[in-house]
Amino acid sequence: MNEKPEHFIVDGKRLDGRRVDELRSIKIEIGTLDRADGSCYLEWGNNKILAAVYGPRELHPRHRQKMTRSVVQFRYNMASFSVDERIRPGPSRRSIEISKVSREAFEPVVFTKFFPKTSIDVFVEVLQAGAGTRTAGINAASLALADAGIPMRGLVSACAVGKVDGELVLDLMKEEDNYGEADMPVVMTAGGQITLLQMDGHLTTEEFYRALELAKTGCDKVYELQRQALIKKYSEEYTAEIEDEYIEDAAPEGDADE
Ligand code: CDP
Repeated sequence: MNEKPEHFIVDGKRLDGRRVDELRSIKIEIGTLDRADGSCYLEWGNNKILAAVYGPRELHPRHRQKMTRSVVQFRYNMASFSVDERIRPGPSRRSIEISKVSREAFEPVVFTKFFPKTSIDVFVEVLQAGAGTRTAGINAASLALADAGIPMRGLVSACAVGKVDGELVLDLMKEEDNYGEADMPVVMTAGGQITLLQMDGHLTTEEFYRALELAKTGCDKVYELQRQALIKKYSEEYTAEIEDEYIEDAAPEGDADE
């Protein structure tokens, strides 16, 4: 593990050169996996995350089915090789907790009533971890759900705020996460409805409200990147589809047999 740095902020810059309200760089690819109904690969700083969605599909065992809605299942998993010290494969207290809160973060936005007796299964695989994997996983899952065509009120976007050297900072990196004074992951809709808020550490009431504002600016930026990634994927697909149709329409009769 890295050593605790003496200072986290020097001349207004953080250890990785960011300002206090700056996000780490984010890269998004939608539809990475052929076999999933929806998928997304997301890099956020040093995090590398893969999200896959299957469903709506018949839920087994049948006694777990709900007559009036679909059941959303969420599995967050860290690959053994995703961190410095190898992780024992299989569920841990931490991964069970993250899976639960992540599932709950989607409950208010997914239209589960449309698909009774089914399950919508979300898998988040952390290939490389570098602080904020739950927020990165939720952002990727949000896009994978959209890619699967699951009806939702909208995307959710996630970002953490923390406190280091007595100052609030957006989107914690590893050292800030490990040794900071507070860590507050927040998930919200584009309209600002909070679907998950957790807090580790200490903030005063005044700091808490300021942290929430800062988290909102982070989530807004993430939302914009998510939206752009969806537009890019689907406008490309749409253009390709239109071109195919155009070529089919334009082909002279009899060509289909050749
Ligand atoms: O990832 P997130 O911040 O949502 O969760 P955390 O439990 O606060 O973990 C913070 C960071 O510690 C992770 O992102 C990983 O980089 C690291 N970690 C680790 O090195 N080994 C673990 N077994 C768990 C977490």
